[in-house]
Amino acid sequence: MIRMRTQFTSCRIVALLVIIVPALAVAQSAKTKAPTKSSASKTVGASKTGVASLRDLTSQYVGAGGCAAAACHGESADSKSRPSSKNAYSLWMVLRDPHSIAYSVLKTDASRRILWLLDGANPPPTEEEQKPWRHAAPHRDPRCLTCHSILPDASATVSDHLLADGVSCEACHGPAASWLKPHTTAGWLALGPNRYQSIDQCAAVATANESKSGAAPSGRMWNTRDIQSRANVCVRCHVGGPDRDVNHDLIAAGHPRLNFEFAAFMANLPKHWDDSLAREALQYTSAQAAPRELWPDQSNWPPEKRADNEIRLWAAGQLASSRAAAALLDQRAGAAENELPTGALHPAWPELSEYDCFACHHDLSAPSWRQELSYTAGRRKPGELPWGTWHFSRLQEDLWPTVLRTPSYPTAEISDVRGAMATLGAKPDAVAPRAKTLAEALCANSAAVTADWTAPKISAAMVQIADADKLDSWDEAAQRYLALVAFANAYRRVAGNQTPATHAEMQTRLEAIRKNLNFGPGYRSPAHFSQKTVATLREQFSDLRDHIQARSHESGDR
Ligand code: HEC
Ligand code: HEC
Ligand code: HEC
Ligand code: HEC
Repeated sequence: MIRMRTQFTSCRIVALLVIIVPALAVAQSAKTKAPTKSSASKTVGASKTGVASLRDLTSQYVGAGGCAAAACHGESADSKSRPSSKNAYSLWMVLRDPHSIAYSVLKTDASRRILWLLDGANPPPTEEEQKPWRHAAPHRDPRCLTCHSILPDASATVSDHLLADGVSCEACHGPAASWLKPHTTAGWLALGPNRYQSIDQCAAVATANESKSGAAPSGRMWNTRDIQSRANVCVRCHVGGPDRDVNHDLIAAGHPRLNFEFAAFMANLPKHWDDSLAREALQYTSAQAAPRELWPDQSNWPPEKRADNEIRLWAAGQLASSRAAAALLDQRAGAAENELPTGALHPAWPELSEYDCFACHHDLSAPSWRQELSYTAGRRKPGELPWGTWHFSRLQEDLWPTVLRTPSYPTAEISDVRGAMATLGAKPDAVAPRAKTLAEALCANSAAVTADWTAPKISAAMVQIADADKLDSWDEAAQRYLALVAFANAYRRVAGNQTPATHAEMQTRLEAIRKNLNFGPGYRSPAHFSQKTVATLREQFSDLRDHIQARSHESGDR
């Protein structure tokens, strides 16, 4: 599911897509198995959280209770309290951060039903039974806990409180046993950036703490301040990875599709930290010193200070997501090749969630927008499967050279994977090495975003994003919409010369686009995307593009 936010960063409660579990019929069966060693690549964030390492793992975590003392992060708070480091825990609970309920959600009927279907509707329903899935135990199942809690397993050695807080503090700030003590001493802050460990997907630092060999805990917190490191943390669950997989079996059983876009998810995350800097930064105008010059050291200062923060979030998220997606595909193909489970799921191949959902889930109407957009346009041959439409969008290819400091977009590696994935007969042993090469190519790219985001440059990028001719799937349109929101927010801060009316005009247009991308009531995955929607979206994107060009002309953005 994706929550499309509106364009104000400050407005985190958005008009949401209604999410209700639809009646789902099907699930391929999958057996529960403990994750075992797989031959898949270790290049990118490969974590091996086998049962053997559980004891090591457990001892590295202290649980949210360890942060909740009144003198630490547990000062009482209500929903109107100003966030500070003192009340982070209490706010996290009162604001009902989605992560605080991630474990309890596993005890709902919806979750039980997902798992029951996934396991082949076993035991079969009897006539009098209303809820045959009620015995399913997703809250004890590694296939779910791996993302819905801080620990992947619920065996006897793991005390319940470690699980019950869901995706709690240590899921993002890192296992605390090794740093909790120094963290409470006066010397901690004096460590400056050295108190953080950067989460680098490529060097697999993120998972060093979790490795079977029990690599020495770092004594440092994971760096959530640096936005690339922060994005690398989020994608571990929001895209997935080794031992963490929301595949098509799970989606078919009722799990929402994972559509991660970092800027939007950051906007939707309730803030348990002092975000006044971000709000204050809204007041910066180009006439004043730009925040990025005020706060040159990213690792030391809140990135929210930067006027172009949202563009940075967008770019960091694209890079982190596509790296994670490539590594996940390598893992999936490797598992299929060796018939080993991924994320404790039975290997499914070809993995259908790698493709555009609408390639299969659609009405067969004439005229057909898919024929028109893909076959007529020469982008695909009839019957070829469109791979990577979310994580490797055309938008990414368009913007990469402009946004990232190292401009080499791995076009060749991507089309290699796309070619190998284009049929249902895709061979895992052909896909795995190509996905690995792609992951490596993405890792060779610097994470740094170009530093000079002036108003004209943002406008030019927005014109590129709002390209109506590129809208060939829901994924492409949604990615472009989300990027437009991020860039529009940055523009507002960087240009600093917009009247409320100018901003409102942009907002109205973006909102109209959002409405056309909504999943319908009762759906938690893309639905209701038709020839007519595509035509409307094209008009809306063209209109938006004209509007941006006119605006930039008027304000002398040249
Ligand atoms: C790869 C990580 C991952 C795994 C594995 C996973 N989930 Fe999730 N789950 C998520 C994320 C992330 C979301 C939020 C989706 C979003 O909004 O983008 C979610 C959402 C959900 C929701 C919807 C919650 C709501 O508030 O509407 C349910 C129910 C759910 N998961 C159940 C399960 C069950 C049951 C399993 C095991 C069979 C499972 N999940 C495995 C990551 C995962
Ligand atoms: C989903 C990921 C996530 C979870 C879970 C999470 N945090 Fe955070 N936390 C962040 C992000 C992102 C920031 C803002 C960036 C930063 O300052 O590091 C942050 C900031 C903070 C800060 C402010 C740090 C500073 O230097 O200003 C504190 C304190 C904090 N979190 C405590 C907690 C506590 C206590 C919990 C558990 C109740 C928790 N966090 C759970 C992601 C998370
Ligand atoms: C350990 C796994 C994990 C990590 C790490 C994680 N999340 Fe999540 N996130 C989840 C799960 C699971 C859910 C679904 C919770 C539910 O609805 O019950 C979720 C839900 C969310 C939601 C609500 C989505 C919706 O559609 O309602 C947002 C926003 C979010 N996460 C943002 C983030 C951000 C930003 C980060 C990184 C700073 C992050 N998450 C890191 C597992 C994780
Ligand atoms: C290559 C074709 C293909 C692709 C691509 C595909 N699916 Fe499916 N999907 C199927 C088939 C086949 C079934 C089983 C059909 C049935 O039982 O009616 C299915 C079943 C489902 C179901 C359960 C049945 C239903 O109609 O609700 C859901 C939900 C679903 N898919 C969602 C998705 C999502 C979301 C995506 C994109 C991430 C996706 N699918 C991509 C072929 C595909």
